[in-house]
Amino acid sequence: MPPQRAPRSRRKPSSHSPGAAFSLRKRGARGLFLTFEGIDGCGKTTQLNLLSDYLARLGLPYLVTREPGGTELGEQVRKILLRRSSAGMDPRNELLLYFASRAQNVAQVIRPALAEGLTVLCDRFTDASLAFQGYGRGLDLRFIRRLHRFACQEVNPDLTFVLDIRPETSVKRARKRNLSARHDEGRFEQEALAFHQRVRQGYRALARQEPRRVKLIPAEDDIETIHQKIVALARPLLARLSRKARP
Ligand code: TMP
Repeated sequence: MPPQRAPRSRRKPSSHSPGAAFSLRKRGARGLFLTFEGIDGCGKTTQLNLLSDYLARLGLPYLVTREPGGTELGEQVRKILLRRSSAGMDPRNELLLYFASRAQNVAQVIRPALAEGLTVLCDRFTDASLAFQGYGRGLDLRFIRRLHRFACQEVNPDLTFVLDIRPETSVKRARKRNLSARHDEGRFEQEALAFHQRVRQGYRALARQEPRRVKLIPAEDDIETIHQKIVALARPLLARLSRKARP
């Protein structure tokens, strides 16, 4: 499934059972925050959608969102960031715009959903800024982490899946997708291969720095094999929320 059209944050009515959300709230449980990352064309959105179907089968209430985007304001920022004509954008401006979108998404969508006990699946989050703007463009990683603390109100992913793939393979996929897209989102696809290599190495470094949270998943396998790996990694956390996820 392509990224959601407006509204960008969705709750599947079938999977959002108010009863379940209430009982989680009563126990004071915060929902789980799961993020999907990787270079362009790595297949993360497909995997996010498969995991959301899995959550629906478990009967767990969840919400899907994305970055940049996720709110009306964020979707406007997304258009500015991703159109080809923004190619000359200053990297500092780029970083701030990603965080502008993220701050709104956290305040308006992610934080309230987690407080309600929903599992939140987010297509990219701060790791993307570290990988793309930090490792890719060479902006200061410590400054990006400070921006994160300022913009994200202590909202941090519980688990992050990084779909790891060679840029030579993924850029071809991203190009195909952008050719068929309704909107012009081709700016990053125009980047040199060396940029995508740096971003990939950035994600790998993040996985080494935080091995408990950031899981590197080989993404050249078939879709179902990747999905099963993601389920196996998510299961111990999901088991706290649903008996059905227990082995
Ligand atoms: P998407 O196509 O996966 O939705 O991501 C949009 C593009 O924005 C993708 O090329 C990665 C890039 N990006 C950043 O450079 N920094 C960020 O913080 C985020 C969230 C995305």
